[in-house]
Amino acid sequence: MGRDYSPAGAEPVFRLEGVRYLYNGRQVALDGINLTVGRGEQLALLGANGSGKSTLLKLLDGIFSPNAGRMQAMGRDVAAVAAGQDSFRFHREVGLVFQDPDVQLFSATVFDDVAFGPLQLGLSQAEVLRRCDEALQMMEISHLAKRAPFELSGGEKKRAAIASVLSLKPEVILLDEPTAALDPRTKWVLVNLIQKLGQDGKTIITATHELEIVPLIASRVIVLDENRQILADGPAQQVLNDTALLVKANLIHPELHYLGRSPSSLS
Ligand SMILES: Nc1ncnc2c1ncn2[C@@H]1O[C@H](COP(=O)(O)OP(=O)(O)OP(=O)(O)O)[C@@H](O)[C@H]1O
Ligand SMILES: [Mg+2]
Repeated sequence: MGRDYSPAGAEPVFRLEGVRYLYNGRQVALDGINLTVGRGEQLALLGANGSGKSTLLKLLDGIFSPNAGRMQAMGRDVAAVAAGQDSFRFHREVGLVFQDPDVQLFSATVFDDVAFGPLQLGLSQAEVLRRCDEALQMMEISHLAKRAPFELSGGEKKRAAIASVLSLKPEVILLDEPTAALDPRTKWVLVNLIQKLGQDGKTIITATHELEIVPLIASRVIVLDENRQILADGPAQQVLNDTALLVKANLIHPELHYLGRSPSSLS
């Protein structure tokens, strides 16, 4: 399967060439990643546990820099961003919702967490309030604004973490398993939100294990395999219809997922 499905001629938001990332200098988390993401694309990032999804999103967010290979994000060298150079401006443009909301929420109240980004931007008080109200409403958590994050349920925390990134209004939104722990209605709210943000031209990359939401939120799918390499990169329907690939990547299991497929097609 080809590697680059970004729209022809679009200025890439991310360009990775032969990117390798190791934890503690020895634990390989990503290996030989080649990826170009065009402005305004909506991608889903799929892969088994430990295949490197969260690590890739942290690289794209300029938190980590590659141990080998070349990587540009928003026209900047990611190693420089990870070293703190121009990182304030970078993080106005690229926002990551972490897999674990406890990493994202650090303030005394949900409101303070959602207001943190806009306050850092130096916006007027009225604009900060407007953005917070909007983000809290989008995630349907206005009633939780005055609560401490530790007083929330798992799904409520997730919604607060998402709101804290939405209030920044970044051009590029990276979502690490955003629908995990969400009830179906909230999941649907989020799917609709991703669709709307996509229509507004935002670049959105969503790591998920939930295959059923993928065609709704992404036109292109990247699959990482258990060797921490890209196994597939292509149009969403094409990747999702490739049952053998999904089994190989440990995204479906013959005993668990029929997904409208006949059991024999999974073996
Ligand atoms: N802080 C860390 N220190 C050392 N190794 C790590 C660390 N975080 C992740 N790893 C390792 O890096 C690899 C990729 O992990 P990563 O969290 O990116 O996977 P993932 O695809 O997001 O998995 P999951 O579906 O479970 O969230 C795994 O082998 C994991 O054990
Ligand atoms: Mg992860």
